[in-house]
Amino acid sequence: MIERGKTYVVMGLLDQDSIAYAVGSTIEKHGGKVIYTVQNERMKKLFFDRSKALSAAEKARVDIRFCDILIDEEVINLFNDIGPIKGLVHSIAFANPNTCLGEEFHTAAYLDLKQAFHISCISLATVTHHAQPLMEEGGAVVGMTFESRMAFPYYNWMSVNKAALEAVVRALARRHGRDLIRVNAVSAGPLTTKAAKAIPHFAYLARTWRKTSPLPWDPIEDKQAVADATAFLLGPHAQKITGQVIHVDGGASAMGGELQPFERYIAGEEEEEESL
Ligand SMILES: NC(=O)c1ccc[n+]([C@@H]2O[C@H](COP(=O)([O-])OP(=O)(O)OC[C@H]3O[C@@H](n4cnc5c(N)ncnc54)[C@H](O)[C@@H]3O)[C@@H](O)[C@H]2O)c1
Repeated sequence: MIERGKTYVVMGLLDQDSIAYAVGSTIEKHGGKVIYTVQNERMKKLFFDRSKALSAAEKARVDIRFCDILIDEEVINLFNDIGPIKGLVHSIAFANPNTCLGEEFHTAAYLDLKQAFHISCISLATVTHHAQPLMEEGGAVVGMTFESRMAFPYYNWMSVNKAALEAVVRALARRHGRDLIRVNAVSAGPLTTKAAKAIPHFAYLARTWRKTSPLPWDPIEDKQAVADATAFLLGPHAQKITGQVIHVDGGASAMGGELQPFERYIAGEEEEEESL
């Protein structure tokens, strides 16, 4: 798992629902130190305002830095300001929902498309480049993706960005093997977060998972499974894994078609699922 006492940078904290927060908490649980990044001062305030469950002492312990990955200077400053690290998690994405997501597949909103590509894809390469000198004895980078081999309704350009992100993971794995830095991605099933709520008809994706995933998939509870796999990829047990996309999605991405009633896991809630 995580190396005790070592530092890991986790980028993309917004609130306690963020995948970044689940990952950071898991790293800490295994004895690692976490430096979170938020996009800006406003986001930091938002995080503390929304984290009512955290005590004042817990809030004081959270190490949060600013880094808007669209601003090169902020990326450079971030990695200049911290010492050696053992790993980096990139849990960042954005696409204008009006032009990049939704019912129509828009093709002319070039500025929005470029912005989405910069934030959701290129930035993984940028931060890996700047983090590399801090991982002198090697380390690991993990990005977050969503099943991109199939086209889902509404997800449109974000799906294109995720496919590109996965290609970047492979290119970076090739580039940084010589630095003993492994680069992988976790492909998560739909999870309830702020970014997910911005996807029009996100409930459709969650519903699709319920119908196709051989293992039951819970968009809230299963964030922990995603965090656990991320911690695994960051740590020495994954020492020969690089350039891979590990699906933590209940198996939905490996299935063809909906599960038949006899194939489904039976639990107390099945009647509720039927009514969805
Ligand atoms: N929630 C899901 O269903 C799901 C599934 C698979 C993959 N993912 C991926 O997981 C990652 C984290 O998303 P999440 O679901 O935790 O949502 P989230 O909204 O909690 O996190 C997204 C983060 O991206 C940050 N961000 C956006 N623009 C930025 C910029 N210019 N500079 C710095 N940070 C910026 C936001 O501030 C936020 O912290 C994303 O890559 C997302 O695509 C999410």
